[in-house]
Amino acid sequence: MLSQCEVDMIRQEVSTWTPQPTIYDYGVFPGQLISMQHFHDWQPGDVVDKIIGSKLHDLLGDFRVIECVYQELHRPWDIHCDFDRGTADAKPWYTAIVPLHACPSSTVIFKQRMDYNDFSRFKQSNAKAEQPVDQDFWQQHLDFCWPEDREWLTVDHVSQSWSPGSLLLFPRDRIHSSDNFHKRIHEPKQFIQILVDHV
Ligand SMILES: [Fe+2]
Repeated sequence: MLSQCEVDMIRQEVSTWTPQPTIYDYGVFPGQLISMQHFHDWQPGDVVDKIIGSKLHDLLGDFRVIECVYQELHRPWDIHCDFDRGTADAKPWYTAIVPLHACPSSTVIFKQRMDYNDFSRFKQSNAKAEQPVDQDFWQQHLDFCWPEDREWLTVDHVSQSWSPGSLLLFPRDRIHSSDNFHKRIHEPKQFIQILVDHV
């Protein structure tokens, strides 16, 4: 989607954004750095809007940006949704991910959906999946997740290995996860994530 020149311009832009460490005292990596998140206040006509926003507009038409963040992901995000950001009059639509480097890692998107973010809540209120994730697939890609989660999920899509300037787009109610890249790659995954609402 983006040329190498455009990726370089985005890299230059995100280097001016302020990093914020994300560490939880719960979950699969308690006390460990998950991500350095560089949140950006989206402004119409700024560099990110001109380069990425314009291309999203070609695909989606009009949208409202709810969140724009550059992430250096040190450990995978566990199974979750990007549905709720606590905004008023929310109309969650798509998550857009644009990798900024080549990285032999994928994002796993499941068939199941939820209109909140927390997968533990999903397990409490839904039956197990009729076609749970294959054991071998789970061990190969998702072995950092809680083992029992496998039984509630069905794989829908595994993204291409990340390449710079590509685009991964999926509805914000779709449950998804990073793969276990941290076991193989000794640098953080670097990407822009943009959450959009319907206007
Ligand atoms: Fe996500």
